[in-house]
Amino acid sequence: RRAESPLHWDPDRHCWDVFAYDEVKRMLGDDESFSVNPREATGFQPAGEQTFLLETMLFQDPPKHDRTRDVVDEFFRPSAVKSLEPFIAAESQRLLAEALDESDDGVVDLVDALAYPLPVIVIAKMLGVPAEDREQFKQWSDTIVEGTAGEEEDAEALQERQMEAGMALANYFRDLVAKRREEPRDDLVTSIVQADEDLTETELLGFCMLLLIAGNITTTNLITNAVRTFGEQEYWPGERQRDTAIEEVLRYRAPVQSMTRVAMEDVTVDGKTVEEGDTLVCWLGAANRDGTQFADPDTFVPDRRPNQHLGFGYGTHYCLGAPLARLEASVALRELGTEYEVRPAWEDDDLEPIESSFLHGVRSLPV
Ligand code: HEM
Repeated sequence: RRAESPLHWDPDRHCWDVFAYDEVKRMLGDDESFSVNPREATGFQPAGEQTFLLETMLFQDPPKHDRTRDVVDEFFRPSAVKSLEPFIAAESQRLLAEALDESDDGVVDLVDALAYPLPVIVIAKMLGVPAEDREQFKQWSDTIVEGTAGEEEDAEALQERQMEAGMALANYFRDLVAKRREEPRDDLVTSIVQADEDLTETELLGFCMLLLIAGNITTTNLITNAVRTFGEQEYWPGERQRDTAIEEVLRYRAPVQSMTRVAMEDVTVDGKTVEEGDTLVCWLGAANRDGTQFADPDTFVPDRRPNQHLGFGYGTHYCLGAPLARLEASVALRELGTEYEVRPAWEDDDLEPIESSFLHGVRSLPV
């Protein structure tokens, strides 16, 4: 369908699907014509716990967006997250050793063992959640993202548990922020509090919650998609190829497949009129397989260069956590490959996709 046109109107979902690389990039790169804030253009009013998310940078256009982003940017640069490397390595080793210890036959589920727990442990450490609170913290965080990662259950019961966990986490963060204002430590919450004393409590809490929602399952999927792809290709990258191969996983099996925008004015694309207020689903996954941008787009080429994939988005909202996600994936795969011989123990037909309209990953991956 991408070959027919870069974008298609879907009358059932009442939105445009944008599939082509140049057009996806154009929409993500043009904040004036394409807004991330559905309220601005359509008057959409969200319910429940989504409300606070809309107050975070992910759903704000410039200049409002830049207020929080400018404060936190420096703490997520590659040089800033690098100090977490020994911690990520030690935690990866611990998680893998524990999982193998519990396994009778040497088969472990990579998702359960490593890819799922690691990101939340790392973000807790980075924020400054004390070690003794990390298990509780992880449980709340797990509940919030359940439905995309956990088992299915009654939707209403799940929503209620998620509301409770969200409130508990918000209270926890509120406490943490107050404590760090009083008694600064060497952690992210302290750094943010000190960097901009004018940031309101709501902005700070929203940001902490955003990190959990935007950063955890996405990184889980990157690690899992990498091991799945390497397994299929009967390939394991050496030290020098690893980071390039991870970029190719981000292209070939993008953990985040789509981002949504709303047109702020009438725009013509490929002779079609996108009207003000129309919703556009920008398919990063499809753009990443666009043959006009990538030679042999459906082939996994571990040393592909250049590789301007859109796996972390593009423009103003380009993923804040990209350096952290890259580091985590790189260190986790290094520990996995150095300590163990990893072989697929899955059948392709048995792999179950996670339940999500825009995240790409599997529920479990036996290795
Ligand atoms: C934004 C993907 C990991 C925090 C984004 C966007 C994408 C993305 C596509 C753009 C959203 C848009 O344009 O509307 C991913 C992927 C990850 C990952 C594939 C893992 C492989 C993380 C991590 C964190 C994080 C680890 C933080 C700890 C954020 C934040 C934003 C964002 C805060 C919003 C940035 C803004 O609005 O300026 N991410 N992400 N992400 N991501 Fe990530």
